[in-house]
Amino acid sequence: SAFSRRQFLQAGIACAFATLSRPVHADEPPAAHDGLTTTLRPGKARVRMVGEEYPETEVWAYNGAEPGPVLRVRQGAPFRAKVENGLTETTTVHCHGIRLPNAVDGVPNLTQKPIKPGERFDYAFTPPDAGTFWYHSHDDSLIQMGRGLAGPLIVEEPDPPQVDRELLWTVQDWRLTGDTQIAPGFNNRMEAAMDGRVGNTVTINGRVPDAVRVRAGERIRLRLLNAAIARIMALRFEGHRPMIVALDGQPCEPHEPPDGRILLGPAMRADVMLDMQGEPGRSYRVVDDFYDRLAYTLVQLEYDKASPVRPHPSDAPLRLPANPVPHLDLKTASMHEVQLQGGMMGGMGMGGGMMGMGGKAAWAINGQSMTGDGSPGMPPLFEIARGRSCILDMRNDTAWWHPMHLHGHSFQVLDRDGKPEPHDVWGDTVLVRPRERVRVAFVADNPGDWMFHCHVMEHQVGGLMTIIRVT
Ligand code: C2O
Ligand code: CU
Ligand code: CU
Repeated sequence: SAFSRRQFLQAGIACAFATLSRPVHADEPPAAHDGLTTTLRPGKARVRMVGEEYPETEVWAYNGAEPGPVLRVRQGAPFRAKVENGLTETTTVHCHGIRLPNAVDGVPNLTQKPIKPGERFDYAFTPPDAGTFWYHSHDDSLIQMGRGLAGPLIVEEPDPPQVDRELLWTVQDWRLTGDTQIAPGFNNRMEAAMDGRVGNTVTINGRVPDAVRVRAGERIRLRLLNAAIARIMALRFEGHRPMIVALDGQPCEPHEPPDGRILLGPAMRADVMLDMQGEPGRSYRVVDDFYDRLAYTLVQLEYDKASPVRPHPSDAPLRLPANPVPHLDLKTASMHEVQLQGGMMGGMGMGGGMMGMGGKAAWAINGQSMTGDGSPGMPPLFEIARGRSCILDMRNDTAWWHPMHLHGHSFQVLDRDGKPEPHDVWGDTVLVRPRERVRVAFVADNPGDWMFHCHVMEHQVGGLMTIIRVT
């Protein structure tokens, strides 16, 4: 290969591998399971992320697969994952975004004892909502997720929308060394106080992608999952008009993303309807240009030469069936101010220093820093009576973006800087811009202690984490 080790180190971004031609194995045939019982075995594995001329990458993975196996279960059908810890340290599994009972939420020392090496734990629940969800480690989260312990969890609608094909892209971001190993140095102090460990290699379904083959005229339901530990993505589909039909698994009014970019912070998902209106035989780029300096082509949509599968775009309805989320009562809702604090100030410069954290932790919520995997015994941010509606009034006092995630509930995004959020958007993770004020509302109908944290892993373990108690 013409691709030298030096170039590899200098390239610094995923398109470093663009010369390597490799199809994405993106087709995940929906299997109509009713219930699902499965075994997940976290452990070390070696996987090929890059070309054959590079060594395999040692990762920590579920069942030896990176990302972990695609789990599919029917909405309202029982799900059971038997987890056998094959690591040499403790672990847990968190099913992100599912409104599940607190005892199976997978937060170490809060909802369960961490699973010791060689031990087992069963996670069983019945997912109430259909949608695109995922699972990941919640123990030693920065390292365990950063080394690959994550996978998609799809809850299928009993009546799925009519499409020609479904694709699932689990997008991950890695910092690889010249011999394609995961670079050491997690939790670098500087990065942790800025935008976190953004990698140099982006994979779709565990491989550095080259092209996805498509047919003119087909309608694709694309499930996008940002499973990176820090990288925010803004995806543009050149020559196409993607319609967002769900965010974080929750259906919204079908809409084109603002300025054509699908903005996904870590942990966020989008279900997108793509009518393939390109020309047969041509290729179109999917570009991620969230970081101006680092814009790159995530993948190419490569059109088959054959004529369109239908003369006009499909006219099947785009809207997904509603999920049974509880009804909000905003008039009687209890209001809670949530200040996001800390981090390096003044952009990328060295002069800024941390803000008001006394040098102990990089981040805080309302002056409190819950760090690591959580601090047992630390008081919750607030308590709320079961069944009440609740508004989180978040103010981002930092110079950085934060994908703020609530466990056990789905919230509605009410407004941003006072401007009502259009399209009836619900989710479990909301991306809050620097200095932005975002209000979300949820019905606290799920009793227990629930994590509320930023999903940039260094921010979470560095103090941007707290607990909300539903009594
Ligand atoms: Cu996906 Cu507490 O996290
Ligand atoms: Cu979660
Ligand atoms: Cu953050």
